Amino acid sequence: MTTIENDQKPVGHGRMLRKEDPRFVRGRGRYCDDVQLNGMLHLAILRSPVAHARIVSIDTTAAEAMPKVKAVVTGAALAEQGLAWMPTLSNDVQAVLATDKVRFQGQEVAFVVAEDRYAARDALELIDVEYDILEPVVDVRTALAPDAPVIRTDLEGKTNNHCFDWETGDQKATEDVFKRADVVVTEDIVYPRVHPAPMETCGAVADYDRIDGKLTLWSTTQAPHAHRTLYALVAGLPEHKIRVISPDIGGGFGNKVPIYPGYVCAIVASIVTGKPVKWMEDRSENLISTGFARDYIMRGEIAATREGKILAIRTNVLADHGAFNGTAAPVKYPAGFFGVFTGSYDLEAAYCSMTAVYTNKAPGGVAYACSFRITEAVYLVERIVDCLAYDLGMDPVELRLKNLLKPEQFPYTSKTGWVYDSGDYEPTLREAMRIAGYEELRREQALKRERGELMGIGVSFFTEAVGAGPRKDMDILGLGMADGCELRVHPTGKAVVRLSVQTQGQGHETTFAQIVAEEIGIPPADIDVVHGDTDNTPFGLGTYGSRSTPVSGAAAALVARKVRDKARIIASGMLEVSVADLDWVKGAFQVKGDPGKSVTIQDIAMRAHGAGDLPEGLEGGLEAQICYNPSNLTYPHGAYICVVDIDPGTAVVKVRRFVAVDDCGTRINPMIIEGQVHGGLTDGVGMALMEMIGFDEDGNCLGGSLMDYLIPTALEVPDWETGFTVTPSPHHPIGAKGVGESATVGSPPAVVNAVVDALKPFGIRHADMPLTPSRVWETMQGNHTPP
Ligand code: CDP
Repeated sequence: MTTIENDQKPVGHGRMLRKEDPRFVRGRGRYCDDVQLNGMLHLAILRSPVAHARIVSIDTTAAEAMPKVKAVVTGAALAEQGLAWMPTLSNDVQAVLATDKVRFQGQEVAFVVAEDRYAARDALELIDVEYDILEPVVDVRTALAPDAPVIRTDLEGKTNNHCFDWETGDQKATEDVFKRADVVVTEDIVYPRVHPAPMETCGAVADYDRIDGKLTLWSTTQAPHAHRTLYALVAGLPEHKIRVISPDIGGGFGNKVPIYPGYVCAIVASIVTGKPVKWMEDRSENLISTGFARDYIMRGEIAATREGKILAIRTNVLADHGAFNGTAAPVKYPAGFFGVFTGSYDLEAAYCSMTAVYTNKAPGGVAYACSFRITEAVYLVERIVDCLAYDLGMDPVELRLKNLLKPEQFPYTSKTGWVYDSGDYEPTLREAMRIAGYEELRREQALKRERGELMGIGVSFFTEAVGAGPRKDMDILGLGMADGCELRVHPTGKAVVRLSVQTQGQGHETTFAQIVAEEIGIPPADIDVVHGDTDNTPFGLGTYGSRSTPVSGAAAALVARKVRDKARIIASGMLEVSVADLDWVKGAFQVKGDPGKSVTIQDIAMRAHGAGDLPEGLEGGLEAQICYNPSNLTYPHGAYICVVDIDPGTAVVKVRRFVAVDDCGTRINPMIIEGQVHGGLTDGVGMALMEMIGFDEDGNCLGGSLMDYLIPTALEVPDWETGFTVTPSPHHPIGAKGVGESATVGSPPAVVNAVVDALKPFGIRHADMPLTPSRVWETMQGNHTPP
């Protein structure tokens, strides 16, 4: 029998390779677009060429007459079935196909179903739509002006573009602290609109069986169970007759959390034609019409003593939500977890007020590789703290060390009500300084400044809140944010664990096998991980916001412990001793004081299913199921140091070094963690230096292709230097915190702080992303304009 050797302890095993990679490196991944079914039809969507217009008429006659075309459907046709509008994940409604008006460039207007993809795309050209162009609302700063055109005329009584207001913290207490502070620093800080841009775009294959009334939907979703329930509620299909399969996913990053009109169109098309229907969007469709991220205009204010003790932080945010509020966040948190904007610091007071508005842009506000707006929050606090360091003439590291929360303050309740579970911040920052050689870097910078060279050193320290969430506080459209897990051990001691979360490339098939292996002693290679199929996995809310490890990882550990408890009773019968006389060692139960008398988990599995009696009252089989409701979020943290050089002649920023020290509590798979961090850092450098979805004054999207929306490649990033500290979560069964998004959250401020530091000789305290050569050049000339 195989047991686990000591040097291969599953959790923390540094050499454990990814179980899924043999299939990926051989090109055997099976993505949505790989699904081929007999008689399958193809769907293409006609999108609005303009940002804001009334639809006067749509003529589909020529498209319908095209050979190979099976159906052409407009918003008016959907409206007849009550399907023209659907709820968003934020309790707003969004048009599946436009009926009255188009509200952003790229909005879905009609769809064609044809025998092949080419015919479907060609037929789109024959649909004749007459638009009555309306003035678009593009600038978020003027969206609430009294004369601004009203976008959401579909909402009864709506007379402006106001979406929602939100506040957190104590306004009066914060005001009082600001009044008595020695130093107050104010800065306007923009986090521009960016896009998750996963390698695989969004798509679906819908297969409605008219005989048994069952719908099978393969779709690029990060949350198959939640999507299934919402389809049942919206379309009125019985939930047990819907099977959502999320096959291999080519990156999600929050982009695949919302339900997009394309998914609904594919379902409708399959029901109408009685055939399987595939819809796959192309790159431009993905960039111009699916969930954007960020788009916050923030005024940050920080109050401190002359000696650099931070007293309070205050912010006012203007949030651009696009044409429909498609944010994916727990219902009680319309601004996501932005409330953690007080960061990692010991403050006396904090306050945030936010106004969200509608504009003629694509909807979204998705958690792009972050836990619901934490990226924006961390960027705000880490930028404003650097502005304070600038005004005080203090080293940014010294200022942070003076204000970081101390280990004895945990669990720490922030001034906006978040309970940080655990943290030991100073060693993490000191480790980053050690790896970077911080003092030496500052000496090098001083010498270079004397020579007129532009070298910058940027620091950021972040605390994330991941693992949504306790269901008493968190739900998405009424679905509580908990996760199920089921574990079955087969008679021969092999096992299958079924998860409600869904990997999109982050290695769950390996790490969840490791968690279970650690608890029940079956080697990871003997444990299969099943996910992404609502017919074959327990209910749960899915993977986003780094919630898999904090929630589903905890579920996996606990379900394995439940199985182990049963195995102990069976072992006591096999060894004829009481359960109290058994020790659990290396995948076997041993009689206390008599190591020669033992049974392995594999022996027990066979007995659980085999002939002969089991201890009194025990059912056969070795399996368990649970639904885990976390008692709190987990709060990973990290310290990042970035070194940049700016060419004074071209203003090109080169990231020369980047040190990232992360603390995600117990580390399950160090290699996978490192991969997650490398990816997140690359994302962060992209956002800081080159990514932005911009619009012209007519509302045309200027980031509709990868020629315009730049994403970083290996050429733009350095060899990452990573390190770690370990502060386990006290409430997670194995002490693990999430890590998938830490680097995307922590790196943009480090890069921007480094660029601003390099520009210090020009008297620059702040510059907005993306720090492209032209923007840096203009900033050097004193002409910085926010995006
Ligand atoms: O929800 P998502 O999977 O995107 O994020 P995560 O829970 O932070 O996990 C990302 C990957 O890192 C998974 O494969 C985790 O199992 C792994 N991980 C780990 O090995 N140790 C941790 N403490 C946290 C995550």
